[in-house]
Amino acid sequence: MTKQIKTIGILTGGGDCPGLNAVIRAAVLTASNDYGWIMVGFLDGFEGLMDERYINLTPKSVRGILPQGGTILGSSNKGNPFEWRVKEDGELRTVDRSEKAVETLNGLGIDALIAIGGDGTMAVTKIFMDRYDIKAIGVPKTIDNDLKATEVTFGFATAVVTATEAIDKLHTTAASHHRAMVLEVMGRYVGWIALESGVAGGADVILIPEIPYDIDIVCDKIMRRRSRGSNFSIVVIAEGAREKGGDVTLLNPELKGTIHEKLGGVGIRIAHQIEEKTGMETRATVLGHLQRGGSPCSFDRYLGTRLGKAAVDLVHDEGFGRMICYRGGQITSMPIADAIGGFKAVDPAGESVKTAESLGVSFGR
Ligand code: F6P
Repeated sequence: MTKQIKTIGILTGGGDCPGLNAVIRAAVLTASNDYGWIMVGFLDGFEGLMDERYINLTPKSVRGILPQGGTILGSSNKGNPFEWRVKEDGELRTVDRSEKAVETLNGLGIDALIAIGGDGTMAVTKIFMDRYDIKAIGVPKTIDNDLKATEVTFGFATAVVTATEAIDKLHTTAASHHRAMVLEVMGRYVGWIALESGVAGGADVILIPEIPYDIDIVCDKIMRRRSRGSNFSIVVIAEGAREKGGDVTLLNPELKGTIHEKLGGVGIRIAHQIEEKTGMETRATVLGHLQRGGSPCSFDRYLGTRLGKAAVDLVHDEGFGRMICYRGGQITSMPIADAIGGFKAVDPAGESVKTAESLGVSFGR
C-alpha cells in the first residue's frame, strides 16, 4: 500500500524570539525523514494564511538556519484574523477575515497546522479549531517565560544571557564613574528575565512586577552600599515593575487596559528618582529588543529542536488541540484550552527570590 502523503502547515505568530528556527528545522526534518510528509510555511504568522503567502519548506530550505535568530517565516503580533484591524474613513475598526484563512488552508490541502507562538497565537489557534474544525498543534514560545503550561520557553535563556552581558558591561562603567546604573529589561507582566539576569549578573537591586517596590528602600540600599565604600550600584528593573500603590509605566498610556498596551519607561523614571533622592549620578539603559535578537544559545536550540520534533509526532498521533510543553525535564503536551490565560509569575516567597535576598539583593521591600 502506498503511503498517504500528508501536508503540514507551520507558522510563527506573536513577537519573535531566539530558537524559532530550531523548531521549524526540526519539524521539517522530522516530517520528511520520519513520515515522508510535505511542509508549507506561512509567512508573517496568520497574515500569511489570510493573504495566501507561504513557502514550501524542504530539508534543503532549512539548512543552516539553526544558529539564526528570528524566524525565517517572519512573524506578526497584529494579525488576528478574527479581529483584523482596518482603517476606513479615518476610523479604526475590526473585521473577521478568518474565512479567507480557512480557504487558504483548504486550497493547499493542509492536513494539520502547527502554530508556534505565545498566549495570543494559542488563543487564535483555538478559535480556528472550535469554529472551523481545523486540526492544529501548538508550540509555545516567548522570551518572557510567562506561560503557565510549560516550565520554560525557548528564547528565555538567550534573553537572560543578553541581559546578563549587559549587566556585566554596566558594572565596569558604573564602577569607573561611581554611578548608579539602571537596566530596564523586558518580561511583560512577570519578572523572570530581571530575576535570573540580575542574580547571574550580581545586581544590587532587582525590581519585578510580583514585588511592588518602595523607592525609599531602593535608595536606602544604594546609600548603604556607598557608606560601606561601594561607590556604584546596579539596579535591574523589569518593564512591568511598579511602585507600591503605583501603576505600571506605559509607552502608550492611551491604550491602557487593552491588549495593545505597551510596557516601557519605568527604568528612566526610577533613575530620576534615585538621582534625586540619593544625589548619586544615575543613568538608565533600556535593553529593549536586543533581548529578542541574535543567535539562540545552545539550550534554546536544543529545546526548540525537541519541541519541533514532538509537534510533528503529535500530528502523527492525531493529538490535535494540544500544545507541546516542557515539564519535569520531559517533552509532553496538554490541551491548548488549558494552556492559555493566566501568567506564570515569580513566587515572591520562592527559593529564587530568597536566594537573591540571602546574597544581599534588595527587591525594594
Ligand atoms: O512578549 C515578548 C515581548 O518582547 C515583551 O517582553 C515585550 O513587552 C513585548 O514583547 C514587546 O513587544 P513589541 O515587539 O511589540 O514592542
